[in-house]
Amino acid sequence: MTAGQQFPDGFLWGAATSAHQVEGNNVNSDWWAREYAAGSGLHEPSGDACDSYHNYPDDIDLLANAGLNTYRFSLEWSRIESERGYVSRAQIDHYRRMVAACHGAGLTPVVTLHHFTLPRWTAELGGWRHPDTPELFARYTEAALEVVAEGVQWVCTINEPNMLAKVAGEQDCGPHEASAQAPPNQYVADALAQAHRHSRDVLSSLSGIKSGWTVATQAFQAEPGCEEAADAYGYPREGFFLEVARDDDFVGVQAYTRTIIGPNGPQMPPAGAETTLTGWEYFPAALGIGVRNAWNLAGRIPILVTENGIATDDDTRRIAYMQAVLLDLHDAMAEGVDVRGYIHWSALDNYEWGSYDPTFGLIAVDRTTFARTPKPSLGWLGNVAQARSTTISAAERKRYGHRFTPRDHRSRRA
Ligand code: BGC
Repeated sequence: MTAGQQFPDGFLWGAATSAHQVEGNNVNSDWWAREYAAGSGLHEPSGDACDSYHNYPDDIDLLANAGLNTYRFSLEWSRIESERGYVSRAQIDHYRRMVAACHGAGLTPVVTLHHFTLPRWTAELGGWRHPDTPELFARYTEAALEVVAEGVQWVCTINEPNMLAKVAGEQDCGPHEASAQAPPNQYVADALAQAHRHSRDVLSSLSGIKSGWTVATQAFQAEPGCEEAADAYGYPREGFFLEVARDDDFVGVQAYTRTIIGPNGPQMPPAGAETTLTGWEYFPAALGIGVRNAWNLAGRIPILVTENGIATDDDTRRIAYMQAVLLDLHDAMAEGVDVRGYIHWSALDNYEWGSYDPTFGLIAVDRTTFARTPKPSLGWLGNVAQARSTTISAAERKRYGHRFTPRDHRSRRA
């Protein structure tokens, strides 16, 4: 270990899930409807998922016993407000119990209000395309205040608004033309920004809350001569959303891999590159690039790494990935970037939006018995959390260090 690679006291070390991906039977969500729609094109529906709706105490205990101090999970709007204006007391109490269980186990809860799924009734109105949805989201935030008031300090309003705007843009193109080239839907991007601000206003009625949104950073890198194209491609897909965060208490950074931009847009991973079960390039430097980009574009507000991980059935690669990521993250902090924590995606092997095949978890789940089996990576990350330091060999660092000089896409407002 290089001397001085010690993370600060109070650093958050955790793992994340989202409601629809682990709870099971979210029958009132738009995703459930989509999973069962004829011709959905999805490999499989979510079904019982990990049945974390009932097994969350086990999930929480496993993380805490491994040595982690944080659990990021989401509230399911479609459970809390299953019909417009009807707020379920029982569901509010369920999520209050989850927060209490975190506190009981010594975990800091990081709560996401919206992680991709909408109640069906909202989706039927047109989802984020309907002008009332930002206001409806603010009203749902009011309902969620009771959960937050249980002692939640960190609240993520909307998960990956940039992916939501991108998906809306692809839908605009129609099923046959959807491609990485489709421009994100800017109306939806603006609606999400408005919803985020309304939600933060509502949350500010409680004292001591840190609220922000979480952005999918994509480590856009230009092939030689494509620098301007990479800027133009990256800004509406990432930069805009980081700039919206400028007035927030923190910004969540989520990173998995990089996106190389060539003359024809995004490129496939370089020939011979190691790829993961999602087909993404194994590229641990993505997080450091995302964190530095967020620091610059979001106006140097505190950063929380709210997701980072790989889908693999070789847990040794997950550990190697985390080692390299954490070393680079520490370097970024040594450069002055204010990072408050590292939350791994994911706590559990879970429903990866259409399929259970890509396994991102620190913990395996038997989907018939719901038995949880921690992988070595859970213990590894827990040990790092306890020691507040990681180790990596010089050879590994050389192999997975920056292969390109990262280039920030410029701020349009600057
Ligand atoms: C999402 C997660 C997802 C992960 C891996 C992120 O975009 O927030 O819900 O499972 O990436 O694809």
